[in-house]
Amino acid sequence: MSRLRPVVERMHGYVPGEQPQGGPVVKLNTNENPYPPAPGVLAAVAACASADLRLYPDPSATALRETAARVYGVRPEQVLVGNGSDDLLTILMRAAVGPDDIVVYPEPTYSLYDTLVTIQQGRALTIPFPPDFSLPQALGVAEGRLLLLCNPNSPSGTFVPIGAIEELVAGHPGIVVVDEAYADFAPASALPLLARHDNLIVLRTLSKSFSLAGMRIGLAFGNAELIAGIAKVKDSYNVSRVAIAAGVAALEDHAWMERNVTRIVATRARLCAALACRDYEVLPSAANFVFARRPGEDQAAVQGRLRARGILVRHFAVARLADGLRITVGTDEEIDRLLEELDGFRDG
Ligand SMILES: Cc1ncc(COP(=O)(O)O)c(C=O)c1O
Repeated sequence: MSRLRPVVERMHGYVPGEQPQGGPVVKLNTNENPYPPAPGVLAAVAACASADLRLYPDPSATALRETAARVYGVRPEQVLVGNGSDDLLTILMRAAVGPDDIVVYPEPTYSLYDTLVTIQQGRALTIPFPPDFSLPQALGVAEGRLLLLCNPNSPSGTFVPIGAIEELVAGHPGIVVVDEAYADFAPASALPLLARHDNLIVLRTLSKSFSLAGMRIGLAFGNAELIAGIAKVKDSYNVSRVAIAAGVAALEDHAWMERNVTRIVATRARLCAALACRDYEVLPSAANFVFARRPGEDQAAVQGRLRARGILVRHFAVARLADGLRITVGTDEEIDRLLEELDGFRDG
């Protein structure tokens, strides 16, 4: 662990299992859901604690694909289940990208894309988002094996209208992947475009809106042939028996997820307003986090001070992001604690 420690600390803001001084951590740095998963999920997980754990899981996670197909209005052959959507991104890159192949995406965005392109020895063609984080025009003419678009985007939280995405998909010669990790917090999804476009893959995760980050469940939706091709490079048993059961139960209780999303969206509005009153510029967020900036003022020290007080938020020490903080929308109580600490810094 000693060599990994700085890496783990940088990614998580703390070392899991260790508590900073001053009581429980308020964890607003990795966009987890502050509310628990549905009761049916907990029951399904408990029911898995049986001698059947000696058996391998269904390699194609049929029950979960069938449930997802029903819930999202596609056919089971159009669904691939992953060990989180990070696994699906890895599978996609492995399937589609070889040495020197071009992968296009706007930046700044989810940092895993860079890592995966590097692992494949591909070439990232990154196109800067304009200041308002609308779709960069140059994306429409960029050619690559894959075009990745995170919508809502992380870490900005901003949302690109689905009409603009459809134009992009229609004009792009390669595969377009829309990473919708945060779509349940947003006004719309690219899923309906699947009926009209064979070169589109939409990624979803149960980590955020369904409160299941610890379970590792991701869903890829696309044309059946494309999905079958991609599935060839996945690990045989990439999703556990427990995750399959939990995923089915979570999707069956959509109302539970929607209730939590409604609460988070209300807290998001309150957080945005409160940060604006504290001289932060907040990008319009369609996700379960906000990106708040003090233009020209590096926020590393603020993150460090919050961390010392047991409040974890995310700071990115890179050019366009260093003057901002990405803050997960927690419970109202957690957000109150954050705001109190920020006020303490100002007054103190
Ligand atoms: C944009 C984006 N995509 C994918 C993921 C990965 O989610 P999962 O937990 O499903 O691997 C995250 C997680 O933070 C994310 O922010």
